[in-house]
Amino acid sequence: MKNFYITTAIDYANGSPHLGHAYEKVLTDVIARYHRLKGERVHFLTGLDEHGQKVQQSAKKAGIAPLQFCDIQAEKFQALCAMLNISNDDYIRTSQPRHVKVVSEILQMLYDKGEIYKAQYKGFYSTRQEQFLQEKDKVDGKWPEIFGDVVEITESNYFFKLRQYQDWLVKYISENENFIFPRFRAKQVIEFLKEPLNDLCISRPKERLSWGIELPFDKDYVTYVWFDALVNYISAVGYGSETFGQNWPADFHVIGKDILVPPHSVYWPIMLHAAGIELPKSLLVHGWWLSSGQKMSKSLGNIVNPLDLIGKFGADAFRYFLMREMNVGQDSDFSLDLFETRYTSDLGNDLGNLISRLLNMGKRYCQSIVPAAGPDEDFEVQLKALAASTADEVLNLYEGMQFHIGLEKTFNFIRAINRYAEQRAPWKLAKSQQEADKILLNTTLANMAEAVRIAAVLLLPIMPTVSGKVLNLIGAGAVENFEGRTKWSNCLEGKTMAQQEILFPRPQENQA
Ligand code: ME8
Ligand code: MG
Repeated sequence: MKNFYITTAIDYANGSPHLGHAYEKVLTDVIARYHRLKGERVHFLTGLDEHGQKVQQSAKKAGIAPLQFCDIQAEKFQALCAMLNISNDDYIRTSQPRHVKVVSEILQMLYDKGEIYKAQYKGFYSTRQEQFLQEKDKVDGKWPEIFGDVVEITESNYFFKLRQYQDWLVKYISENENFIFPRFRAKQVIEFLKEPLNDLCISRPKERLSWGIELPFDKDYVTYVWFDALVNYISAVGYGSETFGQNWPADFHVIGKDILVPPHSVYWPIMLHAAGIELPKSLLVHGWWLSSGQKMSKSLGNIVNPLDLIGKFGADAFRYFLMREMNVGQDSDFSLDLFETRYTSDLGNDLGNLISRLLNMGKRYCQSIVPAAGPDEDFEVQLKALAASTADEVLNLYEGMQFHIGLEKTFNFIRAINRYAEQRAPWKLAKSQQEADKILLNTTLANMAEAVRIAAVLLLPIMPTVSGKVLNLIGAGAVENFEGRTKWSNCLEGKTMAQQEILFPRPQENQA
């Protein structure tokens, strides 16, 4: 059976990790964990995009070799993955021999097939964006600020024949509705493809840029960064080797909306098609985290350092917030106030208090052993019905990438468990001498524990550590598969619960 293969974009080594990177990794990790819980074999790839002018410049500025600079950056980005509990199976760096080898092979193959030609090029070049510009890129007769210094240059370069595949690509995207998710993004690609495509300049003369992958057929040039970077998705899983088919085609390339058009929706499909390689099944295009309406990234200088919040509130709280607030595909505004509110009310009050309540009452009323449940009355019937519908809906929502609604429903269920406890008021039942009340007390605790178990299982992809902890606290043990674990089962009867635990301490206490 082929693995479920999912990738993130590979981050630019030039920048520092920011919220956008953190989000993309968490989103991809949540999907990877969800698929593992469904029983699939998953291969999850992330990595670092190391070549190009900006890295060369930054390294020079720091007085070190480009590779040494990238080593330092790779450590930072991998530290972010570790802090966020990202379950990637591999980490690719585009300076690695395994990658360089495949880029060279693909280039040579396309060159031999006549898909690449050399031509004189005269034009305007943006050093900041590392791209040639056209008259149509001007705004009010001037080059927009984002291009930095624009200079006119003439040089010979190698070009990849994109244009001849334009009609094929339009047809492919129109016929394969699942190729781009969410669907409205496909319209943007089709819109872009209404203008004639230019062939893609895939080389940079070494005198201008030396930090890159040398063209196998001309030692005076290195490969254009996008042509190099995109190939990571196949080089990492052993393109050309026997095991390639275990992973390829990828199920999802998770990317931000800024790198859909043209790199992932035009260059990449055409590169693969021209090379006779199957296309990935789907591009999952997420939106941006914004700060007061502006993209959070390095060039704007308004980075919220995700590491700060992760250290203070814990990885799972951070993951919960990102997945709860972002409707996958849309943009979302980041706010510290909202983060703290979600932490205090959803996690602390709703989930955290529910767990401590359950453990406290368990300790007080039944020696921390989950009792047997008695017969159902209305409150129990309602709770069980909600558990069943929540589990069904949430798994469907996860399947459709609607994690924010999945979490909303799960927390509605968590609040319903708290309400059930209030309706049954075990603290009153415990004072009664009646046998019926004793049975009801046991029923309440047993059902609370079982409901908590189901909620925790549903939260596993998003909050793996907290959910695992909750499952342990109530005596459920580790859960590695959804199979049979999201249905009401009374499987906790006779299990020992922990005495007490504070899952979401106030951040001050956390720092002590
Ligand atoms: O684009 N909100 O690298 P990168 C959400 N090396 N996502 C964001 C974001 C934000 N504010 N800012 C950036 C590159 N991202 C290339 C990719 S892939 C073969 C090469 C996302 O470090 C962005 O959309 O600039 C991209 O998917 C990822 O972070 C890495 O961005
Ligand atoms: Mg970027």
